[in-house]
Amino acid sequence: MQFMFTMPTLAQFGRGVAGRLAPVLLENNVKRVFLVSDPGVQAAGLLETPLYAMREAGPAVLCFTETLPDAPDYQVEAAAALARDFNPDAVVAIGGGSCIDTAKAVNILLANPGPLSRYDGVNLVPAPGRLLVAVPTTAGTSSECTVVAVISAAKQAKKMVIFGKNVASSIALIDPALTDGLPPHLTAHTGMDALTHALEAYISLAASPATDAIAPEAVALIAAALPAAFADGSDTAARDKMMLGCQLAGVCFSNTGLGLVHSLAQPLGGRCHVPHGLANAVCLPHVLAFNLQAVPEHKIIRIAHALGLETRDTPAANLVVDIRLYLEKLSRTLHIPSITEAGGRREAVPDMAEDALKELSTPTTPRKATAEEISALYEDLFMQAESDA
Ligand SMILES: [Fe+2]
Repeated sequence: MQFMFTMPTLAQFGRGVAGRLAPVLLENNVKRVFLVSDPGVQAAGLLETPLYAMREAGPAVLCFTETLPDAPDYQVEAAAALARDFNPDAVVAIGGGSCIDTAKAVNILLANPGPLSRYDGVNLVPAPGRLLVAVPTTAGTSSECTVVAVISAAKQAKKMVIFGKNVASSIALIDPALTDGLPPHLTAHTGMDALTHALEAYISLAASPATDAIAPEAVALIAAALPAAFADGSDTAARDKMMLGCQLAGVCFSNTGLGLVHSLAQPLGGRCHVPHGLANAVCLPHVLAFNLQAVPEHKIIRIAHALGLETRDTPAANLVVDIRLYLEKLSRTLHIPSITEAGGRREAVPDMAEDALKELSTPTTPRKATAEEISALYEDLFMQAESDA
């Protein structure tokens, strides 16, 4: 048996660890901080305490709080220009996936020449950046502990996936308390993204014994906690489980890659601007069921078990149906809209199918799909949206 497993980020987890930000910067002798955040995080009041603590501790802080959803490349370039002038010795991200991905990309551009598109792919970033500290405010992308930055190439209407060496944050301060105020729809969308990560990592062709040991636990944690966190954002036990499940899923997919759900979701983001988590949520039940046809029986049983489904004396083919029904019911519980309501455009299907074939998640998906099959999967989703309307 041979496999590799990496987790390059030092992760600290628990309620209150966000308060470690200023001490961590001091311990690393940081004098100048470039802070990346977004208007939503700022409006939620999540920047006040860390900014005060950082400034009290001594480092000079320059704030960039204009990060946009889906981390468009032009915004990254604007932030990187400011960062270059400021010349920080640390980059700090406080926010959701787009915010942390923007910070990762800025950090890449602090140590490597532009444009960012030259690093779109696996292990193409030659030089490490500055100290990068990520403080997540959602339980979704787990960007704080992955080796991935997803950046939108605005002109090309596609998502760049910058994966591997010299992309990850140095330190992640993962404090579930920062997700307590997340509104229900964002809890649902980001949570479905995390559930997709856990499921796709487990069935990936690049899965290993290490990821197989972790991913089902991530599925179980998220499946148990997501409806509760959606129904009552102040349910701290559910928030804690969501954040933990999200991290475990992130560690797994950093090692395994993802699958066809992400392959279909990324073009929905690139061409139709459907937010990442929502795009995955829209695709998950149908596309996962397509994929599960090529997954070994013992893995199907373990997924069903992690979702809390009855598995005794149930043939694998029936379990695939049960898993799909479970995910459809979960989507209804979380008020996930149809592909059309989410912003998907049917006329974009041929282009999206071509894009999906080229996605970085496609080679590791268990069931190979042709452009025609991918088009058919998209069409199924649009037909389902029509019949539900
Ligand atoms: Fe994702």
